Amino acid sequence: MLRGNELKFHQLSLIKNALEPTKNNRNEEAYHLLRLFQLTGDERFRLQAEPLMPQLSKTIKQLPESHIENTVVNPQTVPLKLEDFGLSEKPNIRFCDVGGLSDVKEAIKLEMVYPKLRPNVYTQYNKTPGAGILLWGPPGCGKTMMAKAVATEIDALFVAPKMSDIMSRWLGESEKMISSLFKAAGKYEGDIVLFFDEFDSLAPKSGPSYLNRIKNQFLTEIDGIGSKRKGMLIMAATNKPFHIDSAARRPGRFEKTIFIPPPDLTSRKQIFELNLSPLMKNGILSDDVVISDLAEITEGYSGADIKAICDISRDIALSEALKNGVERKVKMEDFYNVIKKTSRSIIPWINDSIRAAKRFGEEDYYPELQKVAQLLQTVQQYESMK
Ligand SMILES: Nc1ncnc2c1ncn2[C@@H]1O[C@H](COP(=O)(O)OP(=O)(O)OP(=O)(O)O)[C@@H](O)[C@H]1O
Ligand SMILES: [Mg+2]
Repeated sequence: MLRGNELKFHQLSLIKNALEPTKNNRNEEAYHLLRLFQLTGDERFRLQAEPLMPQLSKTIKQLPESHIENTVVNPQTVPLKLEDFGLSEKPNIRFCDVGGLSDVKEAIKLEMVYPKLRPNVYTQYNKTPGAGILLWGPPGCGKTMMAKAVATEIDALFVAPKMSDIMSRWLGESEKMISSLFKAAGKYEGDIVLFFDEFDSLAPKSGPSYLNRIKNQFLTEIDGIGSKRKGMLIMAATNKPFHIDSAARRPGRFEKTIFIPPPDLTSRKQIFELNLSPLMKNGILSDDVVISDLAEITEGYSGADIKAICDISRDIALSEALKNGVERKVKMEDFYNVIKKTSRSIIPWINDSIRAAKRFGEEDYYPELQKVAQLLQTVQQYESMK
């Protein structure tokens, strides 16, 4: 492994290589690279204004050694393990841990789980799985949970490479890294789910040229994986499908997109039940708590919002119990108070998404959005009552 000055020099040459093919675009490229170094806005501004390379060199010399060592490894000289690409685990989330969304679960199982568990039926019905599925929808509504549930269900390793980490770590070598990732995944002996979160940042409609190179490399890697894959499943997720390059949706790539909607009444009820059942079991949930009422008044809240509502309500009771030294159950009033103060995190997402779909002329591709947009009106009534 390279160390000290040698490493700094190597890193500098990687940046130089990344910049070389796109001299016309220097500032834009430099901006992105520098962002990856987590420099402050002011530092970036100064660097952009100065002649580029001497400044970069100076900045790199000032970076702490530990940062540099974590930042650069040459993917050609260092054998890569799957852990080098980010989270790699055998998850423990099952479909029954995801509240509601039964149609969505079934659609995902049809593409990802049953082909693995019952391959003969698929052969009989002449259905060949595509390369990957893309989950999209508002934040905090279960996309990542679903991807993990797929891995658990088929007992696969779940690998979630984080694009921001990869790009900052590998700099000019990111394309090589993408192929190393697929090589390492191909060598893994068991089944594996490769999950690309924030997929819009990996395959954007447009971006600086080094990002285009990474995107193209990625698309080349997944081309035709559906037919040749042995144990490799590819899943991706995004809140911003409109920003994704349509090339990623071509046949053999992410043909199938599945919308993970905000939880409906039944789903919200189940999410409350999942979160509150330990309290119920411990006899710490007051009898006046009516879960169906909580589900009723939380239209427009995401699963993550509901979890936060449950956690905060519990903490109120917990801290009082600690303070007064007597048991204090979690009451309906606690939930009402917390809900009043909690905003619906998916509302800004709906507004932004409608605007983006219009801007890209892609409203027809996303009929689900129109349905979700109706939520806005209902929710406005609730908000005005707060
Ligand atoms: N349907 C659900 N059932 C149970 N819990 C849920 C559900 N949806 C969301 N949650 C809770 O919200 C958290 C966030 O969910 P998750 O990470 O799957 O959301 P996401 O759609 O991937 O969000 P993001 O777009 O921000 O990545 C979960 O860890 C879980 O606690
Ligand atoms: Mg997620």
